[in-house]
Amino acid sequence: MEKSHPRKIFPILILFILFITSTTSLVWASSSSQTADEGKTIFEERCAACHTIGGGDLVGPDLQGVTQHRDRQWLINFIDDPAKMIADGDPIATDLLNEYNEVTMPSPGLTSAEIEQVLTYLESQPTTDQPQGEQAQSLPQGDSARGENLFTGQITLQKGGIPCMGCHSVDGVGQYGGGNLGPDLTHVLQRYGQTGLANALGTLPFPTMQGPYANKALTPQEQADLLAFFEQADAQGTENQAATFTPWFWGAGLAGVLVLFSVMAIFWPRQRMSISENLRRQS
Ligand code: HEC
Ligand code: HEC
Repeated sequence: MEKSHPRKIFPILILFILFITSTTSLVWASSSSQTADEGKTIFEERCAACHTIGGGDLVGPDLQGVTQHRDRQWLINFIDDPAKMIADGDPIATDLLNEYNEVTMPSPGLTSAEIEQVLTYLESQPTTDQPQGEQAQSLPQGDSARGENLFTGQITLQKGGIPCMGCHSVDGVGQYGGGNLGPDLTHVLQRYGQTGLANALGTLPFPTMQGPYANKALTPQEQADLLAFFEQADAQGTENQAATFTPWFWGAGLAGVLVLFSVMAIFWPRQRMSISENLRRQS
């Protein structure tokens, strides 16, 4: 009787241990896949405009396998504040900046927990996937004239976003140029590429614009019109208009004044006479 006691307890103990370990690992697995899910959402909303995972470069590098070939702390620091890394002269960040058209990745403004979630998601992605191709969203046919009016605010944005010109300029648009809180967008097409720009207009992943455009995303038609407008601006405009336009502008101004003076010199006396004659006749 005494011997059967431990024999009965033993399998129960094993079962119990198995049960505990399996449930904890289940909980653990589900919580880490939840983190990856949250990371996926963040990635799609805040990063996918410029990055793919295994789909090739967009505005920024393809991030497939990045968690393997870069130090984790470096990644955390970089995602936290890319501009600071570049300003501090970090050699990798500087190389990347040169390689990617001098476009500084805007700071995504994530908390450190969110950065962890994104990195967990990146880690969870297969590294030897076949490329999925650039995930350009398909937009309707755009109209550049409408795009220009959306840019300047002559046509209001459907969801009530502020007109772009409040903060951006494009060469040749608007008599006094636009705002300069944001960069000049005349050649933004070259910096971002067609696909990159289309994606960027879809999510507007720029920290300064996130507030003003929260819940005021551009409609697909507006995105297409703006894209068509930026294509046209890129083909026609010169950024930094002051340098190229000033001599021409002053020359034209001077010629105009000379013409005006000579016209006045020729016509003014006669004109005045005829007016006073007219007045005399009328009274
Ligand atoms: C507006 C475009 C843009 C957005 C949005 C963006 N990035 Fe970037 N990212 C870049 C560019 C461009 C680079 C190349 C470095 C540079 O020029 O600053 C880069 C570089 C990186 C790198 C370094 C890649 C390497 O090879 O070491 C990582 C990691 C990264 N981005 C992660 C993210 C994450 C995560 C998000 C979203 C939370 C994000 N990026 C959002 C444009 C963007
Ligand atoms: C409240 C000011 C503001 C408004 C309004 C605004 N932007 Fe921006 N935008 C910025 C700033 C500032 C940046 C630079 C990145 C940052 O700091 O967020 C930027 C960056 C950009 C970029 C990337 C440019 C580059 O060269 O890296 C694009 C494209 C852009 N904006 C498009 C638009 C469009 C299209 C609209 C109108 C629908 C618009 N913006 C309205 C402030 C604004």
